[in-house]
Amino acid sequence: MPKIVIENLFNHTIDLAPSASKVIEIIHESGIDWMHACGKKGRCTTCKLIVKEGMDNLSELTDRELVYRNQGRLKANERLACQAVLKSGDLRVRVAEQNKFPHIIYSE
Ligand code: FES
Repeated sequence: MPKIVIENLFNHTIDLAPSASKVIEIIHESGIDWMHACGKKGRCTTCKLIVKEGMDNLSELTDRELVYRNQGRLKANERLACQAVLKSGDLRVRVAEQNKFPHIIYSE
């Protein structure tokens, strides 16, 4: 079964059935609060994922992500959780430092 591991959240692991859901929806449905200042519309980058493993398991970059990539605001190892869909396989990610919530305790 595919899974998403959030490294700096004590390796929180989400086991999931294959679906076409965006990564942020999977994370939210698992009960984890993940920043999404623009309402998941691809207009802010606060939902950024730092991808440690599994980049090839994600859908292609969307037009919104390409805008940020071309502006240098989305690095090669980063994706927007509100845009990327986990196609298959596993994903290992981190919460970006600037997008951590004050009410959540992170492991790193
Ligand atoms: S929530 Fe704003 S870009 Fe994803």
